[in-house]
Amino acid sequence: MKLLHVDASPKRARSSSRALARYFLDRLGAHLTLDIDYLDLTVDTPPHVTEAFAIATYTSEEDRTQAMRDTLAHSDALCRRLLDADALVFAMPMYNFSIPSAFKAFIDHIVRTNVTYKTDADGSYVGQLARQKTLFITTRGADLRPGTAFEAYDVLTPALRAAFGFIGVAKPWFVDAQPLQFADQDARNAAMARARAELDALALQWTKE
Ligand SMILES: Cc1cc2nc3c(=O)[nH]c(=O)nc-3n(C[C@H](O)[C@H](O)[C@H](O)COP(=O)(O)O)c2cc1C
Repeated sequence: MKLLHVDASPKRARSSSRALARYFLDRLGAHLTLDIDYLDLTVDTPPHVTEAFAIATYTSEEDRTQAMRDTLAHSDALCRRLLDADALVFAMPMYNFSIPSAFKAFIDHIVRTNVTYKTDADGSYVGQLARQKTLFITTRGADLRPGTAFEAYDVLTPALRAAFGFIGVAKPWFVDAQPLQFADQDARNAAMARARAELDALALQWTKE
């Protein structure tokens, strides 16, 4: 299985999202041969969208100048890595209830017209990542599970669903570890144990499908 693994936490050895992603890949790797393409978005952070990028991306391919093609080259390469993979594993912390900025910059580079989504003759959009199994591992300091006081603050999950749904990821898996910071040690340990149990089950599921 060719798998693209993307980390987005600025923390390293202390990062829970990085640890959970490694845990999942170890479990999956026990059952399957993995060919892992690794991207650390805190090292290779895509630049913010520039004016040149915003114009080039919506200019049709035949009308693009060489300068426009150069502007889009990094984004093209990121899209290629997604399209070439059989599976995608994205790990990130929740920041201010949403996507950490390095991962948001990545999204702005990989939701690309005529690359990761195309337009049908009838005008409907067709996402090109329908083939890829996709897992989001998110870590949160607070507990935002359904039924908690912070439930409505979770704009991370719907934002990821929308952006990736648009490029064809219809049924992503989510493993959300919470609460990992604003809680006592027992609650944090229980949150990590729940996440690991979900990842164990998912690794088995991906092996069988
Ligand atoms: C800048 C910043 C913003 C954060 N915002 C939130 C938040 O809105 N909600 C939340 O539950 N936790 C928030 N946290 C806590 C992290 O999501 C939490 O500690 C997470 O487990 C970190 O994952 P990591 O260890 O992989 O970096 C924030 C942390 C930082 C540093």
